[in-house]
Amino acid sequence: MAAKRIAIIGGSGFVGSHLVAALTREGWATRVFTRRRSRARALLVVPTCEVIETDVHLASNLNEHLAGCDVVVSLAGILNEHAGAGHRFQDVHAELPGKLAEACRYHGIERMLHMSALGVDADAPSEYLRTKFRGEQAAHAAAAHGIAVTSFRPSVIFGPGDSFFNRFAGLLALSPFVFPLACPHARFAPVYVEDVVRAFLATLDDDAAAGRRYELCGPQTYTLRELVAYTARLTGHRRNIVGLGDRLSRLQGRVLERVPGKPFSFDNYLSTKIDSTCSCNALEELGIVPRSVESVVPGYLGANERNSWLGRLRASARRDRP
Ligand SMILES: NC(=O)c1ccc[n+]([C@@H]2O[C@H](COP(=O)([O-])OP(=O)(O)OC[C@H]3O[C@@H](n4cnc5c(N)ncnc54)[C@H](OP(=O)(O)O)[C@@H]3O)[C@@H](O)[C@H]2O)c1
Repeated sequence: MAAKRIAIIGGSGFVGSHLVAALTREGWATRVFTRRRSRARALLVVPTCEVIETDVHLASNLNEHLAGCDVVVSLAGILNEHAGAGHRFQDVHAELPGKLAEACRYHGIERMLHMSALGVDADAPSEYLRTKFRGEQAAHAAAAHGIAVTSFRPSVIFGPGDSFFNRFAGLLALSPFVFPLACPHARFAPVYVEDVVRAFLATLDDDAAAGRRYELCGPQTYTLRELVAYTARLTGHRRNIVGLGDRLSRLQGRVLERVPGKPFSFDNYLSTKIDSTCSCNALEELGIVPRSVESVVPGYLGANERNSWLGRLRASARRDRP
C-alpha cells in the first residue's frame, strides 16, 4: 500500500523541518511547499519528501499541487511583515489558511492541522495575533464542509535551529557590554519543538481532535529577562542586561523595525503585552511530558558557541582540536 501523503505549507522552516523528520520516521510521504527551493535544501535529501517551489498565495497553485494528498498542515507564518502582496500578516496569517481550507475542499482532503499561536484573539494587542486569530477561524470554518481541522497555539518554541535562543545569542554577541532589553517582564512558557511535533502526530488520526484548539506550553514560565540572562550565561556573554521601561521598549520597537532584518518591531512589542502562557496546557492531555529549557537548550546553544566561556576555555587549552 502506498504511504499516506501529507502536504506541509511552511514546511521549510524551523518547526516544519522537525515535523518532516518525525513524519518520515512514521512512514508518511511528505510534500513541502516553499516559495524558494533553496530554503528547503535540508529536506532535499529526504527521499520521501517532495519539495514544491510555488507561490502558495495563488489558489490555482494550491489546487494544482495538493492533488493526491491525504492531509494538509498549515505552518506558514511570519514575525514581521514586509511591503508587497504575499508578505503582510493579513496575507500569510489570515488569508492563506482559508485558501488552504478551500483547496482541501476542492480535492476532498478531509484532515487539516493548523499552526496558530498562544494569545490569538480578535482583539489581541498586535496585528500578528489578530491575523493569526482570523486565520485560525478561517481554517476551522472548513468544518462546515466536512474537513476535520485541529489547531495548535504554542508559546515560543525552542529547539535546534530556533529563532528565539539563537537570535538572542546572536544579539548578545553583537552588543559590547550593555544589553538593552525591551519588555523584560514579558512572560513565556517555552515549549520544545519535538513536543510540538509530537502533539501534531498524536492528533493526526484522532477523530476526537477535530475542531480542537490546543494550547501548548513547556513546564515552566519565565520572564524575558530570565530567558535572556540564561542565554547569556550559556553562551558566555557577560553583559549587563538593562531592562527597558515601557516607553523605551516602544521606542526600541519603532527604531529596530527600520533596521535590516527587523530584530524587533513595534508589533512584536505589542505582542508582549499579553503573557504567552497556557490557561490549559494540552500536552498532558495528549500524553506528552514537556521537556524543559534547561534539559535541551545547552545541547545546541552553549556547546556550539565558539565564544562561550567553555569554548574559550577549551580553545585556550587547545583541547578543542582533534
Ligand atoms: N517559532 C515559534 O516560536 C512559534 C511560536 C508560535 C507560533 N509559531 C508559528 O509556527 C509556524 C512555524 O514557525 P517557524 O518557527 O517554523 O517559522 P519559520 O522557521 O520562520 O518558517 C516559516 C515558514 O513560513 C513560510 N513563509 C514565510 N513567509 C511566508 C510568506 N510571506 N508567504 C508564504 N509562506 C511564508 C516559510 O516558507 P518559505 O520561505 O520556504 O516559502 C517557512 O517555511 C508559524 O506559523 C509561526 O507563526 C511559531
